[in-house]
Amino acid sequence: SGLSSGFSCEVEHWDSDEPIPDKELERGVAGAHGLLCLLTDHVDKRLLDTAGANLKVISTMSVGVDHLALDEIKKRGIRVGYTPDVLTDATAELAISLLLTTCRRLPEAMEEVRSGGWTSWKPLWMCGYGLSQSTVGIIGLGRIGQAIARRLKPFGVQKFLYTGRQPRPQEAEEFQAEFVSTPKLAAESDFIIVACSLTPATKGLCNKDFFRQMKKTAVFVNISRGDIVNQDDLYQALAGGQIAAAGLDVTTPEPLPTSHPLLTLKNCVILPHIGSATYGTRNTMSLLAANNLLAGLRGEPMPSELKL
Ligand code: NDP
Ligand code: DGY
Repeated sequence: SGLSSGFSCEVEHWDSDEPIPDKELERGVAGAHGLLCLLTDHVDKRLLDTAGANLKVISTMSVGVDHLALDEIKKRGIRVGYTPDVLTDATAELAISLLLTTCRRLPEAMEEVRSGGWTSWKPLWMCGYGLSQSTVGIIGLGRIGQAIARRLKPFGVQKFLYTGRQPRPQEAEEFQAEFVSTPKLAAESDFIIVACSLTPATKGLCNKDFFRQMKKTAVFVNISRGDIVNQDDLYQALAGGQIAAAGLDVTTPEPLPTSHPLLTLKNCVILPHIGSATYGTRNTMSLLAANNLLAGLRGEPMPSELKL
């Protein structure tokens, strides 16, 4: 239901919640006119070559498109559908949850209750950092960045800073957010939230220099993509007390190996890429992805087409 009718196509379906193996994807895509994929499917030159000249539309069930070789796709005249907006609220909610969980040390505190470490109420025990009167820096004041700022405002944030390729005065006005350089954002924020897209320009943006510029009491949150962060540098910053804590919904690789050094740190909260994971949002995303694909196959405007 909700899918457009009056159109038929032959569908090959990977009927599992587990990612499709590369070989199976290559086999299935060969000769296909359309591909509906997930962010775990890497659509690179090789796969596009395997697909062949029939392929006219790729629809991804994600807003992030860093898993798609966009240059190659554009060169071939293939159209791309994606799922912006419909996941903005869910992802912003998760970002706020992760921020509060991290700055108020909830996993550590829960562990203390379980392990018997909770002996008494003590003035400085399990203290963290509060949002009231704080400065929040948002890397990427896009759809999700704005939704995060909107939700944070009522917590009493004093000032919002943001970065991007250029100022966005219209969007920033609602939060009286100030457009600043990345070093200034790093140096002046009490909380930093990464909400930008992963591009060659943002890959590794949060590195040793970035963390060195941050306040010792600052909390870092990334809900964007793991590759924006240099994880070795983040580990050093967290382990050496250069920054207070980090909350990550995304890592490199995913899943993060259970032996990863970041998982040994009490001041690092890691979630398994669940930003958009509400039943309602995932249902809406899948429907939008299907409708994008069908519209693309018909040569009609897609509900959400990525401009290439
Ligand atoms: P938008 O396109 O609306 O926002 C992307 C933002 O990235 C823009 O504000 C853009 O700012 C910024 N940006 C681009 N290049 C740079 C740069 N060089 N430096 C700083 N900022 C930059 O996308 P959404 O808000 O809808 O989604 C953002 C990302 O969040 C997605 O690409 C995806 O990777 C991730 N995501 C993660 C989820 C999760 O489950 N954890 C769920 C959904 C999304 P400007 O244009 O001003 O440069
Ligand atoms: C996206 O859509 O890019 C997220 O990472 C998952 O919803």
